[in-house]
Amino acid sequence: MNEDQQPNLPPMGAQDFSAAQDWPGYFGAVLGKGARETLVAALDSFAREGLAQGFAVDLAAGEGRDTLELLRRGWRVLATDGHPEAFTHLWPRVPEASKPLLTTLEATFAETQVPECDLLNASYAVPFCPPQHYPELWRRTVAAIRPGGRFAGQFFGTRDSWASLPGRTHHSQEEVVRLLAGFEIEMMDEEEMDDTPEVRNPKHWQLFHVVARKL
Ligand SMILES: C[S@@+](CC[C@H](N)C(=O)[O-])C[C@H]1O[C@@H](n2cnc3c(N)ncnc32)[C@H](O)[C@@H]1O
Repeated sequence: MNEDQQPNLPPMGAQDFSAAQDWPGYFGAVLGKGARETLVAALDSFAREGLAQGFAVDLAAGEGRDTLELLRRGWRVLATDGHPEAFTHLWPRVPEASKPLLTTLEATFAETQVPECDLLNASYAVPFCPPQHYPELWRRTVAAIRPGGRFAGQFFGTRDSWASLPGRTHHSQEEVVRLLAGFEIEMMDEEEMDDTPEVRNPKHWQLFHVVARKL
């Protein structure tokens, strides 16, 4: 009997798969969930400014919850991810009429070249970038966003339990603010909480939900 089958343990959830970087398990656990609030907020801001349809890079798009929302709104999307199974979940759910709007790219954070875009969406992506590659990834990210374009996504805090796992990239609030020099911060919602004991592997969460407009 493996650990997942032990009778008294709560079932594996998305966060357990994320902790183990078991991405196929994660994709299965979140399949069909809606777009992230940070993405929706960024798209609504563009729409208010008159940009209803632009070009977005969805970095570490996973099974594609945000990419599907972008396509639904008529945006062109480059969806990147390091795991090939991400796109086997995504493509069959893309409506035929939207397929010409989507390009997918299998690439690690270290390899990913980011083309010029209106929106760089990085939902729950940053913490999984190995720290030695993060400064260059962020440099490329910032360079790719056109003036007036936006960054949307999450940064994980230094007090988050996963900060002690090897290969993770976490930031204090001060560090996030420093990274966003050159942006107007439109959303910076800090969430800090402990899981309830019903969760299989309870953890302390500290994350920042960010939308920022490049100056
Ligand atoms: C927590 S998931 C987030 C997926 C999606 N953006 C979302 O909001 O649900 C993290 C994603 O990062 C990808 N990933 C992890 N390590 C990576 C790496 N080194 N290079 C590129 N992608 C990576 C995984 O395949 C996974 O899709």
